[in-house]
Amino acid sequence: MTTRIPETGLDRETVFAALEQARAKDLAWRKGRAYAYVYDGGKEIEEVGKHAYMAFLTENGLDPTVFPSLLQFENDLAAMARAHLGGDEHVVGNFTSGGTESIMLAIKAARDHFRALHPEVAGKPELVLPITAHAAFFKAAHYLDVTAVPVPVNPETFRADPAQMKAAITERTMMLVASASSYAHGVVDPVREIAALAAERGLLCHVDGCIGGFLLPYFRRLGAEVPDFDFRVPGVTSMSMDFHKYALCPKGASIVLYRDKALRRHQIYACSSWTGYTMVNNTIQSSKSGGPMAAAWAVLQFVGDAGYLRIAKDLLATQRALVAGIRAIPGLRVLGEPEMTLVAFASDELSVFQLCDAMKKRGWYIQPQLAYGSSPANVHLSIQPSNVQWTEALLKDLRAAVEELRGRPQPDLAPMAQALTAQIEADPSGQAMANIVAMTRGSGDGPTPDEMADTNHLLDALPRPLQERLLVEYVNEMFVPSSR
Ligand SMILES: Cc1ncc(COP(=O)(O)O)c(C=O)c1O
Repeated sequence: MTTRIPETGLDRETVFAALEQARAKDLAWRKGRAYAYVYDGGKEIEEVGKHAYMAFLTENGLDPTVFPSLLQFENDLAAMARAHLGGDEHVVGNFTSGGTESIMLAIKAARDHFRALHPEVAGKPELVLPITAHAAFFKAAHYLDVTAVPVPVNPETFRADPAQMKAAITERTMMLVASASSYAHGVVDPVREIAALAAERGLLCHVDGCIGGFLLPYFRRLGAEVPDFDFRVPGVTSMSMDFHKYALCPKGASIVLYRDKALRRHQIYACSSWTGYTMVNNTIQSSKSGGPMAAAWAVLQFVGDAGYLRIAKDLLATQRALVAGIRAIPGLRVLGEPEMTLVAFASDELSVFQLCDAMKKRGWYIQPQLAYGSSPANVHLSIQPSNVQWTEALLKDLRAAVEELRGRPQPDLAPMAQALTAQIEADPSGQAMANIVAMTRGSGDGPTPDEMADTNHLLDALPRPLQERLLVEYVNEMFVPSSR
């Protein structure tokens, strides 16, 4: 294989074999031992998604008048999502490429709605959100020139604190955010209080149901206690829900919904002031494959309500077993009371980052989360259908890994972090930063090192702005044209 465009094309078999070979070091999620990144509904669901994806791969969602099939799928998906989330006949929605795009569009709509409503308010509109809201909100605020105003959460429950959100409202506030659920801790914010506060102050309220919006209604039907979080709650003006998470659809599939068309209007962008075709886009992407949309439509039709309810039942039982099992391991504590299949646990006795590495050696992928605000460094599990079979085995290995690490001195990287911070600040050439990036690239061969504990400890000890700068530099080094 060559990294130049080959002079003459290779034969199909050679190309296909190279593709398979390229996967060698990828996360081996098919075994069901990865608790992040993948939502694996099994072979049949995967096949249906792939078939529909390939069937519409080459269709272009750029112009719905030319591909009415895609318009139909999109409106069908909006109807299904609206019914799922308690929306009335006024609720409208658009299919997007993922949670981040749904959130970005909701914030664009909110910003332009605010500007139209309050031309007298100078300065950047503000978005008040709990620190547990997904990073996509901060990214959207950054891209869209909106100020994100993060607010601490309840340090015991990790749920948003409506009183603190109220205190953060100014004349520039355009929208309040609640999560159902949050990614990090899997808890549902008090949406009723937050939405009521928004309504009382004439503000918008977005509920991020990217990860929880699809599954939580099933949990509720199964008798679990799930607080109200959707369009049935007065004051909720927009929601995001991802099909590519717990609806088990191929990636590139989410929806953003609005209380009515008057608000959604601000999401849409049209441009006829150029020399080409008349462009009008609902989404950030313009030309886009019909694959993800057709696949989401097909998977929902194939699994059906009863199918999702069955899957939800297994997931709920697994979540409960894992929460109880982790609580029973001395040295580990579950953070908050998760309603979702997302469980975070911390430890006062050992390094959770070393725990992730120790579990990786045992063939598991579990996700480290850095400390932030009242949330200590912790391990996160996103429990998905192919994990269900592994509960006992995971707990057994977790117990063993905890025993192995208990009492091992935890590295104190604060002095090193301080020294590095001083070095970076004293060195405008960027060389000190480059040295640190090289150091944090870890002990593995390549960009995905096996032992990440040292890197995570160091990142955790650095001041936040520096942490973010370092991450930018790290990725800037990672994506360099191949030279093999
Ligand atoms: C609560 C929540 N919101 C937003 C997102 C962002 O979604 P995506 O990764 O599809 O852009 C996620 C992803 O995990 C999430 O959990």
